[in-house]
Amino acid sequence: MQRFEAYLKVNLPKVETFHPHYNDALSAMLLAGGKRFRPMLLLSVVEAYEPLLFEGALAPALALEFLHTYSLIHDDLPAMDNAPLRRGFETLHVTYDDVTAILSGDALNTEAFYHLSKAPLRDDIKVKLIELLARDGGTYGMVLGQSIDLHFENIPLSLEQIKILHINKTAKLIATSLLMGAVIVGLEKSKQEALYAFGIDLGLLFQIQDDIIDETQSEEEAGKTTGNDGDKNSFINLIGLEQTVQEAEKLAEHLAEEFSQFDKTLQNALSDVMNKYLYRHR
Ligand code: IPE
Ligand code: IPE
Ligand code: MG
Ligand code: MG
Ligand code: MG
Repeated sequence: MQRFEAYLKVNLPKVETFHPHYNDALSAMLLAGGKRFRPMLLLSVVEAYEPLLFEGALAPALALEFLHTYSLIHDDLPAMDNAPLRRGFETLHVTYDDVTAILSGDALNTEAFYHLSKAPLRDDIKVKLIELLARDGGTYGMVLGQSIDLHFENIPLSLEQIKILHINKTAKLIATSLLMGAVIVGLEKSKQEALYAFGIDLGLLFQIQDDIIDETQSEEEAGKTTGNDGDKNSFINLIGLEQTVQEAEKLAEHLAEEFSQFDKTLQNALSDVMNKYLYRHR
């Protein structure tokens, strides 16, 4: 991931302007760090099958991180989750103001597609990547999930509905990260579909674990505002911490089983990220 971090630093949006903090605000949350989970997934798939395409895949990987970071900046706004801490730093609306946070998010959203459009990849592949990122990161995925999350605060949903919420707000972008990698290397359709389905389960687990973190970790440990899900439709609020951890464990075991069916090249390339995140609820 060192290559990704170096690439990110060189490709931070930077504009000639007399605005006093426009560039700093756009870069702050990208430079603050984060797990880079989604870029890692995309790049691991590319590394497995076509290492020569790794350089070309850095642009779509960064596009994923731009879009994800925008979603976090907006997620933390007073009108949404109202969180003052993110990635170990003050959130943008605290450091600057709501306007700066809203517009920095807007800019990173469009920057994702601008950057992707200029990737050194075949045009037909880029159009497909733009389609997937727009679909799962927007109207049909993350934005739908966030809309459900916020509209139904303090209105209890069923466990099935919470799964749908989690799949949209989080899992689809994670699944699409794997799928974008698969499209870049030209994997056959059935393998693409298998990776996407795996990614949906992985993303659901990732959000369940995130709900556990909100309940169990301090702000210092998590680097973000925790204890903040009181009004939410989370697994924790519906079935309690203990059962949520059990659900996470069941899903992780299922994922480990699915993972063991993948070919060895792919298993090798994804092993770091799997080892790091599959059992983080324990
Ligand atoms: C947090 O995502 C929001 C969710 C969708 C769960 P991450 O846990 O990947 O946040 P960063 O990128 O590491 O900050
Ligand atoms: C956010 O979920 C998912 C996004 C699409 C940003 P959360 O609201 O649980 O994420 P955190 O806990 O603030 O990182
Ligand atoms: Mg939220
Ligand atoms: Mg939040
Ligand atoms: Mg959370």
